[in-house]
Amino acid sequence: MQKRRIGVLISGRGSNLGALIEAARDPGYPAEVVSVVSNRPDAKGLELARSHGIPAHVIDHKTFAGRDPFDQAVDRRLRDDGVEIVACAGFMRIMTDGLIAAWAGRMVNIHPSLLPLYRGLDTHARALADGVRIHGCTVHFVTPELDSGPIIAQAAVPVLTGDTPDRLAARVLTAEHRLYPMALALVATGAARLEGGKVRFKTKEEAGAPLFSPQPR
Ligand code: GRF
Repeated sequence: MQKRRIGVLISGRGSNLGALIEAARDPGYPAEVVSVVSNRPDAKGLELARSHGIPAHVIDHKTFAGRDPFDQAVDRRLRDDGVEIVACAGFMRIMTDGLIAAWAGRMVNIHPSLLPLYRGLDTHARALADGVRIHGCTVHFVTPELDSGPIIAQAAVPVLTGDTPDRLAARVLTAEHRLYPMALALVATGAARLEGGKVRFKTKEEAGAPLFSPQPR
């Protein structure tokens, strides 16, 4: 099997990057991480990538005159590394329409809420403030409007009595680490693809498989 070549964009810790690297160790997994790009030189995920022998690049947004030249540098790097699909994993930069268009249908993101609820930041605190009983995470194709692209997969977790934003975030993060590899595999195999602004699944099973609710912790 020819694995699809994945580039991962990060800004920090890189635990989702770690989950993707781990999943890709399975010879049967349809993708491999071949390039990691961080806009922050101090991102922990860079060391993680290098410890697995994966090229990890810093493209520091502060050293560019604006969004366009920064995004062009990111795009060039991904192409130079032969990347076919881009996975954003805690990448804290707003991307230009140009970069997003260049990777349309081939760029995905993970967001820590059940979209379309809680786009943007502080999702866990906002979910707690609203008193929702179910929260979770979403993997979606990236489109120009922030956290609004067509949804590939979601995982739900319960909100428990006594939860703090940190406790809830940890429960969601555990779900993220299961969901992201699963959703990326759907894209890598073509089982889920972007068509006419919607996600098309090859089979009914593929449409339903990524929705799960892990045991509460
Ligand atoms: C995750 O919660 C992800 O959903 C969000 O940013 C966080 C990144 O965490 N987009 P990590 O860097 O993958 O550990």
